[in-house]
Amino acid sequence: MKQLRVMLLGCGTVGSGVYKTIKQNGELLKERLGLDVSVQSVLVLNADKKRPLPGIEPLLTTQFREDLLDETDVVVEVMGGVEPAITYITAAMRKGCHVVTANKELLAKHGLALEKEAREHGVELLYEGSVGGGIPLIGVLQHFLKVNRVTRLSGILNGTTNYILTQMARDGRSFADVLAEAQACGYAEADPTSDVEGYDAMYKLAILARLAFGIDAPLRDITREGITAITLEEIRLAQKLGYTVKLLANAELRRGEAPTLGVQLTLVADGHPLAAVNDVYNALHVEGDIVQDVTLIGQGAGELPTASAVVEDIANVGRMATRARTPVFTLPKPMAEGERERPLTYVGLKGAGVIDGKKVTAVRSALTQVALGVQNVQVVQGEGFAWVGFVCTEWDEQRLAQLLSAKKLPLQVLAHTVRPCLGEAVQAEAHVLATAVN
Ligand code: HSE
Repeated sequence: MKQLRVMLLGCGTVGSGVYKTIKQNGELLKERLGLDVSVQSVLVLNADKKRPLPGIEPLLTTQFREDLLDETDVVVEVMGGVEPAITYITAAMRKGCHVVTANKELLAKHGLALEKEAREHGVELLYEGSVGGGIPLIGVLQHFLKVNRVTRLSGILNGTTNYILTQMARDGRSFADVLAEAQACGYAEADPTSDVEGYDAMYKLAILARLAFGIDAPLRDITREGITAITLEEIRLAQKLGYTVKLLANAELRRGEAPTLGVQLTLVADGHPLAAVNDVYNALHVEGDIVQDVTLIGQGAGELPTASAVVEDIANVGRMATRARTPVFTLPKPMAEGERERPLTYVGLKGAGVIDGKKVTAVRSALTQVALGVQNVQVVQGEGFAWVGFVCTEWDEQRLAQLLSAKKLPLQVLAHTVRPCLGEAVQAEAHVLATAVN
C-alpha cells in the first residue's frame, strides 16, 4: 500500500473539512486506490483552541517545522494569503514534497513562479480547491478540454456574493443581513471585502484564464467590480426585463485581441444556464471551438465541498499529468465585421418622482432617436424615485452621454448604471466566437 503522509498548514473551515474527509473516507482511499493517506502534523495559530476533530491534538504545532518535511509526502496549504504560505510551500517543494493548495490569491499572484519551482524540483503543485469549491473546474480545463480552443469562460466564482444576490432577489433581504449569514455558514473570507468587492472572483478568473488561454494576466489588467452598488430596485428591474443579476467573471476572445478579463455585475438572460445558479452554488460556462459549450455547477464554498477538491488532489498526486499549460497565447485571426458578436448592454436610469406609462413611452422614443437598439423598457417605482431600465443591442456610450447631457429625456436623472448582459443564444455565440480563431 502506498503511503501519503500529509502536513496540513491551516485548520480553519477548509482545513477542518480536509481532516474530517481523510478520517471519514480514508478506508475508501485504501480500497479504491491502494493509498494510505494520513495527517502527520497540523500547523495552527492557536493550539489551545477547542476543535471538534478527534485525534488532532497530538498533531498540532504552532511553528512551521521544516524538519518534519523529511517525513512528509504532501503539504496541504489551506491557510490563505500570500505570506507566510508562499515561504512554507516553497520550502516544502525544495525538500521534495508535493503541494496541494486551495489558495487562490497566492496562485493568481505567483502561480507561474510556483509552477516553475514545482517543475524544477520534480514535484506536483495541485490546486483544484482554489476555484469553484467542489466543482472539478481545474481538472476539466487541464485534462478534458485540451483539444479545444476555449473562446469564452463565464463563471459565477464567488459563493458568498452569489448567496447574497440570490437572497436579495428572492426575498428582498438586505445586503448586510445576508452577508452575516454567509459568514456564519463559513462561505466568506476572513475579510469579506475580498468577496463583496470582487477580489476573490478576480483571483479565480486569473487562474482559470491561465489554464484556458495560456495567458498570465496581470491582476491590474482585470476589470473588477463588487456587489455593493446593487440595489433591490435594480434587481427587480432586471427581473422584469427577463434577466438575473449575477457577479460574473468573464474572459473572452474578441476581435482578434488578447482575451479580456473582467468581474462585473452582469445581467444574465433567464434562459442562460448561469441564471439558474443560486445561493452558494458556483458555475463555469466554457465555450470552445469544438465542444461548443459546457456548464459545470456545484457548491463553490464551504467546508466539505472545498475539502472534497483538496482531498481529490491529494489522491491524484502522481496519478495525472498535471503540468500546467505554460503561456502559449497567440492572437487569433481577427473576425470579419459581420461575424462579430454584438454584446447586449443594460442601462438603468434613476429618475426623480413617479414615472408613469406616458413618461416611459417618451423615454423610449428619446432612446429610439439615438439608435441604441432598445429592446424593452421597464420601470420599478421606489419612494420618491423610480428606476427605468432597458437592454440595448447597439450600445454606444457616447450617444447615451449626449442624451443625458442634452437633457432630452423626460426625467430628472439622479443616477445611471451601465452593465453588461449575457444573452441566451449560447450556441450561436459560441459559434460566432469560434469563427474568430479558425
Ligand atoms: N469566500 C469564497 C467564496 C470561498 O465565497 O466563494 C471559496 O473560495
